[in-house]
Amino acid sequence: MPIATEIRPVPGTLIDSAADLVAIPVVRGGEAPTVPAAGAGVEPAELDARLPASAAELVGHYELAGKPGEIAQFPADLGAGLVRVVLLGVGDAAPADLRAAGAALARAAKGHTTAATTVALLEAVADGGADALAAFVEGALLASYRFSLASNTKGAAPPENLELVGADSEDAASAVGRGEALARATALARDLINTPSAEKDPAWLAARAGVVAAKSGLHVEVWDEHRLQRDGFGALLAVGAGSDRPPRLVRVDYRPKNPAAHIVLVGKGITFDTGGLSLKPNDNMKLMKTDMSGAAVVLGVMSALAGLGSPVAVTGLLPVAENAFSGSAQRPGDVITAYDGRTIEVLNTDAEGRLVMADALGYAVAELAPDALVDVATLTGAAKVALGTGTGALFSDDEALAAALSEAGQESGEPVWRLPLTGEYRDALDSQVADLANIGNGDYGRPGAAEAALFLREFTGGLPWAHLDIAGPGRSASDEGVLTKGGTGFSTRLLLRWLSGGEPAAGLGGGVA
Ligand code: BES
Ligand code: MN
Ligand code: ZN
Repeated sequence: MPIATEIRPVPGTLIDSAADLVAIPVVRGGEAPTVPAAGAGVEPAELDARLPASAAELVGHYELAGKPGEIAQFPADLGAGLVRVVLLGVGDAAPADLRAAGAALARAAKGHTTAATTVALLEAVADGGADALAAFVEGALLASYRFSLASNTKGAAPPENLELVGADSEDAASAVGRGEALARATALARDLINTPSAEKDPAWLAARAGVVAAKSGLHVEVWDEHRLQRDGFGALLAVGAGSDRPPRLVRVDYRPKNPAAHIVLVGKGITFDTGGLSLKPNDNMKLMKTDMSGAAVVLGVMSALAGLGSPVAVTGLLPVAENAFSGSAQRPGDVITAYDGRTIEVLNTDAEGRLVMADALGYAVAELAPDALVDVATLTGAAKVALGTGTGALFSDDEALAAALSEAGQESGEPVWRLPLTGEYRDALDSQVADLANIGNGDYGRPGAAEAALFLREFTGGLPWAHLDIAGPGRSASDEGVLTKGGTGFSTRLLLRWLSGGEPAAGLGGGVA
């Protein structure tokens, strides 16, 4: 469900606002937290006169420290009747602080029609403030995201409008637009992830990709099961063989004029993961509608590239299948043939993600020869065990690519941590009967996330490549900060920042023209 809140940059000052919730930023400051000085969007003396006490006194009264997202609220008449006034901690007004503050404000504003705040802190929008303003908008919109199939939606609705007083300059408008684009791309991914698998089968996801591509002016191509067969996508077909709802491969192309480079993004699209005949226990299975998060993220990214003016050509590949349990399912011990011609012994049908990814990577290497490959997948429970739900796992042999993605993650509030592709573990994937086995033989313990990454690396043709295992942060157990319970769309903003922020796709080694 698209985010309902509209962001409105408006001129004037806070006390002119007709909003029913008015937020006054509180900066952490040196000795004591402070409210913004006179300037764009705020007139402290006039504001103080209408509050129950001066803003500074109220900050003291509520013992606020100005921590990002910290909140105190009370009623006051600012000139147009009683409204809710919120003292909103914005830390040091760094982008991460304002992202958290935006999310807190959006949560406090639930049940109100219009929230207003000032961007006085970000007066120098042109240098540094622009990123902070974009992050504020991003945080507010992401926290306003909702997904519900209930007949009566529970809980208060997010505000219809968020007015940004004093953000009516051209620079501010472009920062606001950037924050909106990042949030709406993430919301698109979340919607796809949160859709139950009864509705969300491979054909459905391919059709959604078609709609998104049409709206965003992108070229789209879909392989159905017949075409997959003809073209040799043996691994994707094997994973989908147990389902009545056959697999699809979706390719979406973004082609700017004179592209600086060509990147392929591959997203794991398992619309439901039962584990197959290597069946999951119910506790592990019940959340597996989210196992197409990688594909959803790639589609979310593709939808926003043109709007963000990305200078790189990007091809999104979505191998989509349902990993079902049935008499037609692949069996442990089966040997399948991947797109690149190599044979794989399937020792565990629950290690299905790497199989569908292998076919998509093989296609990318053979047909697209990009400057770099980046894949995103809810690939292993082991990545979640290693890093928890707050951090994604990053694997790459390419230093520059790894550094660029790490930095983009840091700046986006979607942190990733690089784990090693330990070469010796590769032996564990040797098979007696095929070119490769799809799980390790245990000789090196159970480095599950690394084994999966080493398996994928086999299909990358030596191209610069990075792998994001988002099994941990792909889902949130609660509404918290910018996250909402359910699919998070984690790494949508990271990838968009990498592909369209500042330096054109840094980290491509010598491959960039
Ligand atoms: N989709 C799962 C991984 C997963 C686990 C995602 C938890 C999100 C939360 C993947 O297909 C899987 O089942 N992986 C197995 C691999 C094993 C059989 C080698 C796993 O991690 O247990
Ligand atoms: Mn699985
Ligand atoms: Zn899976």
